[in-house]
Amino acid sequence: MTEQPTAAPLADVTIGWVGLGRMGTAMATRLVESGADVAVWNRTAAKADPLLDLGAELLPDLIDAAGRDVVFSMVLDDAALDALHDPEHGLLAGDGASRRMSVWIDGSTVSSTAAQRAADAAAAAGVAFVSAPISGNPGVVAAGNAIFAISGDERGLGVAEAICLAIGRAVHRVGGSTEANVIKLCTNALLAVTMQSVAEIAVLADKAGVSRAALMSFINDSAVGSPFTRYKTANVVTLDFPPTFTPEGQRKDIRLALELAHELETPMPVLNTTEVAFSRLVSGGLGEGRDFAALVLEVARDAGHTLEPEELS
Ligand SMILES: NC(=O)c1ccc[n+]([C@@H]2O[C@H](COP(=O)([O-])OP(=O)(O)OC[C@H]3O[C@@H](n4cnc5c(N)ncnc54)[C@H](OP(=O)(O)O)[C@@H]3O)[C@@H](O)[C@H]2O)c1
Repeated sequence: MTEQPTAAPLADVTIGWVGLGRMGTAMATRLVESGADVAVWNRTAAKADPLLDLGAELLPDLIDAAGRDVVFSMVLDDAALDALHDPEHGLLAGDGASRRMSVWIDGSTVSSTAAQRAADAAAAAGVAFVSAPISGNPGVVAAGNAIFAISGDERGLGVAEAICLAIGRAVHRVGGSTEANVIKLCTNALLAVTMQSVAEIAVLADKAGVSRAALMSFINDSAVGSPFTRYKTANVVTLDFPPTFTPEGQRKDIRLALELAHELETPMPVLNTTEVAFSRLVSGGLGEGRDFAALVLEVARDAGHTLEPEELS
């Protein structure tokens, strides 16, 4: 594991940033604020405005990102990553005459098969591909506390590490292929089942007449308390759910982990149950416009119980 401040300098590297959703915006902001030379592209151009205000350059088209030394992409899912290397409209389209990009780093949470497709397309164009999924929500990123797992083409790992350390707190080098994608899916699977368990005990305690604020305060002080239970305490107690990650996004990650589990004949009964709960949250509408911590509302509905907002203790 490498922690700041051992990063190689980025002074001579031009970076093309692709993807300015919740995470991409928070991450690119950190990178620009570190002094790096960053130009940005997003499918929906208006989302680039906050970065332009910070001094980043706007790239009119996706292909223009390939005119930079290194591209860092942060998009939603497998389909979005596939679109980035579409042979006609993607980053690697054309004969490569104006391509400067020698390294493509992808931070999205995607399957290892999608990452491998991107790595193969990059390799065919002489570009080194690195998977660099991130752990931490936009608030964690803004505070400089996000961490990365990176794996992939040896030629790209050094600059990937430098960029990740300009954004976050630590980088774990975990292999020479798509190992980082597997580690990220396993981490998110644990996060999802933890959310399910927190939701269940919060509803149980509430039904028993115990304050959720008192419950979470005790848990957070105990051995099973974690940064994650602390992040989600405000949601579970106040029933306010400003989205850091959507229920659909969380379910996407659960399904990717389950796909891998099916492929590798690995039963994951707890994660399967959690997928059903997230599907109900999505299809029943309670997750609409809310953070995935709104799972507590779904669990309460299942229990025939109505939760009321509480003050944080
Ligand atoms: N939010 C979190 O707490 C968190 C934490 C760790 C990792 N992640 C992972 O980070 C990634 C981004 O998450 P997010 O929360 O930032 O999601 P988000 O706010 O929904 O942003 C998604 C981004 O992907 C782009 N995109 C989607 N489909 C595309 C396509 N076909 N072609 C090009 N661009 C496309 C979107 O462009 P438009 O703006 O045009 O829609 C947007 O820039 C996901 O893989 C997620 O699992 C999220």
